[in-house]
Amino acid sequence: MSDAAAVHAELVERAEQAAMKLEKERNNRWYPSFHVAARSGWINDPNGLSFFNGRYQVFYQHHAYSAYWGPMHWGHVSSEDMVTFRREHVALAPSIEADRDGVFSGSAVVGDDGKLYAYYTGHRWNNMFNDDDGALQVQCLATSEDGVVFTKHGVVVEGPGLKHFRDPKVFRIDGIWYMIFGACSEDNRGQVWMYTSTDMFNWEFDRILFEDPNPDAFMLECPDIFPLGDKWVLIYCPMGPRKDAYQARNSHNAGYVVGDWAPGEDFKQLTDYRLIDWGHNFYAPQTFEAPDGRRICYGWMGSFTIGTPSQETDGWGGQLTVPRELSLDEDLNLINYPVAEIEKLRGEKTEFGSFVLGLNQDKVLLEQTPPCEILLDVDLSVTDSERVGLKIGLTEDGSHTYVGYDSLAERIFVDRRLAGNGDRGYRAAPFPGGDKLSLRILIDRGSVEVFVNGGVQSVTSFAFPNAGDRSVALSSESGSITVDRLDIYPLDTIWEDERQ
Ligand code: FRU
Repeated sequence: MSDAAAVHAELVERAEQAAMKLEKERNNRWYPSFHVAARSGWINDPNGLSFFNGRYQVFYQHHAYSAYWGPMHWGHVSSEDMVTFRREHVALAPSIEADRDGVFSGSAVVGDDGKLYAYYTGHRWNNMFNDDDGALQVQCLATSEDGVVFTKHGVVVEGPGLKHFRDPKVFRIDGIWYMIFGACSEDNRGQVWMYTSTDMFNWEFDRILFEDPNPDAFMLECPDIFPLGDKWVLIYCPMGPRKDAYQARNSHNAGYVVGDWAPGEDFKQLTDYRLIDWGHNFYAPQTFEAPDGRRICYGWMGSFTIGTPSQETDGWGGQLTVPRELSLDEDLNLINYPVAEIEKLRGEKTEFGSFVLGLNQDKVLLEQTPPCEILLDVDLSVTDSERVGLKIGLTEDGSHTYVGYDSLAERIFVDRRLAGNGDRGYRAAPFPGGDKLSLRILIDRGSVEVFVNGGVQSVTSFAFPNAGDRSVALSSESGSITVDRLDIYPLDTIWEDERQ
């Protein structure tokens, strides 16, 4: 083993040991049961999503030494079926000059030599400490034969020294490798840059593929581009745009534009920028192509600006969303919906059938809220309740997270005004219209993911309930609700070693 490899091996081992130590103190009251999270410590963006050696590989930005963001590593889990996960060793640690202050986000692809190629941003603060004097960011490469132990190859894209220059996403078309990443131009505009390569090591500048028409956007984090049908979807996370009514409420928001693109051409934008998800906690999504051709996306649930109670006391912070399959509808809206595999986690179904909930009623559906899934279909043509509400994690003191349909605003909401713990606030996605309201709500110990009418919209938020009996109730307001179907399934854990 070379000296550099030995140093890296020691640093990933040290991080692994730190995470194992912190895990012993982890409090599980809100720790995800069916979402990917680190055994302890902090996580943010999903990284390196790929299918390699017969398994789905899911890496993520990780700080193993505390539940807060710090020098970034890549943590790692893997799965054969996307619903049964095992933990893998910490994969990448800062160990060379180019990534001295962090192994930032990036992607992974399988080379013709059968190795996994992980491209990531090497991050250095000019003052070795914080952003005050700017940073130097370069794109780096590490490869692995088994997907677990990585060998670093150093910098592959140096760049012109722009102050934001990161998050490489690599893909291949007709034998040519393409890398895109986000940049802040000299005149402070958010851009996506593209490089190409034939050998995966030597990269050449191709073009500035995209500049956000919004002049407030000064950097586009975690860009991703992929075809759906005959169109191309460009996902990015603009830094800078201000809050805009229901849109861009979070300090960090993830969205997309749809356009036309072909190798050697500029990207032609056909739609406005739209949010992928309207919740409090959805950021830095990354996609990959599954072996069967599905385009699958994981997002990060967390926040850089508003901490969670789990960080303060429970030894962990941040989780990924469930994997979601992406598609486009005829209006070029990006549909995102849990992959079919999630249904394998279902336990015994409780059916409530069809019924009418009368004026101003609360109907308790569950006395306890285990990790579970609720499927609710409502006939809006005969429903006049002002809101179709579900009180989730409802405790004796009245605290809960309120999820449902607001007929006045014509939106699907997650209202955390009465949240037991953590950040409050209200988020709401547009309802697509029509008489059929169909909600699918995935409830984990500390989160809700709401999918509207098959995934035309989604709302993803943390929700940290109080201790004690936590019920779920359907609630009508100044009118009645006509339910066509209401099914609830408990959901099993994704952690192989915790299955009964
Ligand atoms: C987005 C991001 C990326 C960066 C990483 C650092 O959430 O800021 O741009 O690579 O997180 O952890």
